[in-house]
Amino acid sequence: MNKAMDMCALLLLTLTLVIAVLLVFMVGPTNPLTWSMVGVAVLIPFIRRRFKHRRRVDWKDAYSVGIDSIDKQHKNLINLINMLQTTVDYSTGEEFERECLAAVVDYTKTHFVYEEGLMSKYGYPDFEAHKAQHQKMIDKISDLMAAYEEHPESAMKDVLGFLKQWLIRHINGTDKQYSEFLLSKGAH
Ligand SMILES: [Fe+2]
Ligand SMILES: [Fe+2]
Repeated sequence: MNKAMDMCALLLLTLTLVIAVLLVFMVGPTNPLTWSMVGVAVLIPFIRRRFKHRRRVDWKDAYSVGIDSIDKQHKNLINLINMLQTTVDYSTGEEFERECLAAVVDYTKTHFVYEEGLMSKYGYPDFEAHKAQHQKMIDKISDLMAAYEEHPESAMKDVLGFLKQWLIRHINGTDKQYSEFLLSKGAH
């Protein structure tokens, strides 16, 4: 799908440039119509880049759980997801795409182990429920990884959609619930 959209943008850009060149010969280089086509040609890559940027996740202060070590890990996770999105947007090749996907999955698991370690260490009352949510996410990712082996392109879209939606929802909801408790116990 992304490759098809890239091809469309490239075709549109080529077509616009061809029309602009033809207009130079037909109506002259100073005609407003010629400059309009040149303007459109200049705008196409810009609009394409803006459209791609929209698919990224940006860290917001509102996502902070107030515990530095965890905020840092959440930021790293967002960076890894954005890197994975970039591999898809710019078709960087299957090998790099797979490496990025593995890095996101590994880091997610590492982060969960860290969070669970803190919750367990300080006796967080909702530890089991929180841990169950992490496990649910790992199970879902395993299913998506299996689907990725069958249909890489369509499954990658689902992986990215799930990661972004789940991550923000989990950070902003479930993770924030432990903030007050862990901070009162001295977590940092
Ligand atoms: Fe988290
Ligand atoms: Fe969590």
